[in-house]
Amino acid sequence: MSSKQFTLDEVAQHNKEGDLWIVIDSKVYDISRFANLHPGGLNVLYAADVAGKDATDVFFGLHRLEVLLRPQYARLQIGTVLGQSELVKPLAPGALSLVPYAEPTWLSPGFYSPYYNDNHRRFHKAVRTFFAQEVYPEAIRCEENGKRISQEVVDTLCKMNFLAMRLGPGKHLKGLTLMGGLVKPEEFDYFHELILNLELSRFGTRGFVDGLLNGGVIALPPILNFGSLDIQAKCIPDIFAGKKYVSLAITEAFAGSDVAGVQTVAVRDGDEWVVTGTKKWITNGTFADYFTTLCQTDQGLLVLLIPRSSAVSTKPVKTSYSATAGTAYVTFDSARVPVSHMLGKVGQGLQVILSNFNHERWMVAATSLGAQRLVVEECLKWTNQRIAFKKPLHSQPVIRAKLALMIERVEACQAWIENITHQMNNMNYAEQSEKLAGPIALLKKFISRAGRKTAEDATQMFGGRGITMGGMGKIIENVRTTYMLMITRLLSSTSCSPSSSSRLRICPRSPDPFDFLIHSTTVRHLSTLSSQAPKTCLETLEFGRRFARCPRVRVYERLGGPVVSLGWEPTWFARDLVVECTSEIIPSKYFRCDRFQFVRQVTSSISVQPPPRVCDPSP
Ligand SMILES: Cc1cc2nc3c(=O)[nH]c(=O)nc-3n(C[C@H](O)[C@H](O)[C@H](O)COP(=O)(O)OP(=O)(O)OC[C@H]3O[C@@H](n4cnc5c(N)ncnc54)[C@H](O)[C@@H]3O)c2cc1C
Ligand code: HEM
Repeated sequence: MSSKQFTLDEVAQHNKEGDLWIVIDSKVYDISRFANLHPGGLNVLYAADVAGKDATDVFFGLHRLEVLLRPQYARLQIGTVLGQSELVKPLAPGALSLVPYAEPTWLSPGFYSPYYNDNHRRFHKAVRTFFAQEVYPEAIRCEENGKRISQEVVDTLCKMNFLAMRLGPGKHLKGLTLMGGLVKPEEFDYFHELILNLELSRFGTRGFVDGLLNGGVIALPPILNFGSLDIQAKCIPDIFAGKKYVSLAITEAFAGSDVAGVQTVAVRDGDEWVVTGTKKWITNGTFADYFTTLCQTDQGLLVLLIPRSSAVSTKPVKTSYSATAGTAYVTFDSARVPVSHMLGKVGQGLQVILSNFNHERWMVAATSLGAQRLVVEECLKWTNQRIAFKKPLHSQPVIRAKLALMIERVEACQAWIENITHQMNNMNYAEQSEKLAGPIALLKKFISRAGRKTAEDATQMFGGRGITMGGMGKIIENVRTTYMLMITRLLSSTSCSPSSSSRLRICPRSPDPFDFLIHSTTVRHLSTLSSQAPKTCLETLEFGRRFARCPRVRVYERLGGPVVSLGWEPTWFARDLVVECTSEIIPSKYFRCDRFQFVRQVTSSISVQPPPRVCDPSP
């Protein structure tokens, strides 16, 4: 960068085609040649209040600071304005954000926490710096081009024993050097792991985060807990070292929530199992070397560690997030697997798979929370930068109310997850299984739903940018598109049934937790309203119309219309609308006789009257 200094008068001389300078935050840019290439067009740069002028405000209303840091644009700077100094400084890698609520309280100056010690703080700083310098640039590349994470970055991560740390504390850490020796294996606890999960989600690149060896995070525990020592010795060091990759292969086109209904078959043939079948939506499957696979046998379910061979083929499944996650359709065509690759006994398959669900749900909840906090930061920055009606957006009460609600949600989620994490730190595995299955299932449901609400509000605040890949709204777009994945997975691994107490217990082939939630919370709540004056059908339809003015309903419609063309299917869309109704006075009879009848009425009103405009009245 040139150290030349110019007066504002000098800059003002360069205000025409072929000779165009502007000032942004005390820096002088010569954009004469760039103007033709400007993605926002040529004309805007020749406007009277831009050409040769200080364009700081208009620039930051339209661009992220990172635009100016990209090498191709940074070199347009030819000097600075005499007597001025920059106000907007990029954060140093690893530094804490200065935006209010962008960091949890334990990282905020002047606040206290009973959960974190100095080692957690040092670990946090090291992780954030490491991710910013070594991994984030790769995240941006892969999220855009859909390619898998490079071996070079995998190697860098594995030197820190990243994958081993993502499995939480335990004997698998013994003898490993974690984060360059910053934390001893016996010191590593679930708060260290929580930090990793929260920092990962700050990338704002959901597909990449799943591509970042997430297959291993969910596929390794069955190997560690149920594999023989031989099989562990054979594959785990290579997987921890990033030389081999592993995926969890449970779901099929035939069976998802109904885990026990899988149709992939394993038949015993001497010292081998012969596996035939297919699996779908397998994270990292396109590049996995091993598949932790749930199969049917004539004596019940069995989990096998199937190595990739010529009898195993994978092809990508196109999803709404980046192909860098490596989501795959996997086919086993008489794949032969040695009996030594059994993870647990024949008939024990469901227990092997379910045993990891608490940790997996907690991990997904943590990554959702991290994304929400990032959204809060983005929204606070954006509503400060964006000028509409001659004022920053946050000067509008309706926007401030949305911001306040977002912050409330993220702080509530953080407090709850830290409480649960503290329990995990103090309970052994058996106690966790006994006591935490219910709380973690509810936590995950709560955080995912809070995230969805926050993503919706953020999309509304960002307007068109909230659905635009790249530019100011790119993080909001990514979170909004991918919160659905959280919800899908939420349902996936949460096969629970109501127990007599308020806890949820894991049990196979039992209803989804929302049944429990709707029955015991919503219906109980609704029954307290049954003394209200009975409502008519017309009023119910009116309620539906109010839904129709919500942006979320538009999202549902775009998704292919389970809402508008709702049949009898208890889709989560429908159930979600029902849950939303708890705060409204709804005739409980609709729920008593048929809990989806109400939803059908709501949704038929939506199809009759398409949404005229978004929820919030413009100022
Ligand atoms: C991004 C992503 C990554 C994934 N990665 C993996 C992976 O690595 N490995 C793997 O094995 N799988 C993976 N999955 C699959 C995921 O676990 C399944 O999508 C999930 O189990 C749901 O199964 P399904 O899609 O077949 O839905 P279904 O089981 O067909 O369910 C359809 C709908 O019906 C509802 N429903 C089902 N049963 C009930 C009931 N009893 N009561 C009320 N409602 C019910 C469900 O909640 C859902 O809304 C992934 C999915 C996604 C989206
Ligand atoms: C050094 C100066 C500038 C650089 C390097 C630059 C770069 C860019 C880039 C990369 C984009 C694409 C979107 C994004 O990545 O954010 C963009 C969009 C845009 N720019 Fe600039 N820009 C500059 C100055 C300006 C100025 C002074 C204006 C003033 C009017 C302006 C107006 C726009 C507009 C209107 C868009 C489209 C935004 C959108 O679609 O949301 N740019 N610019």
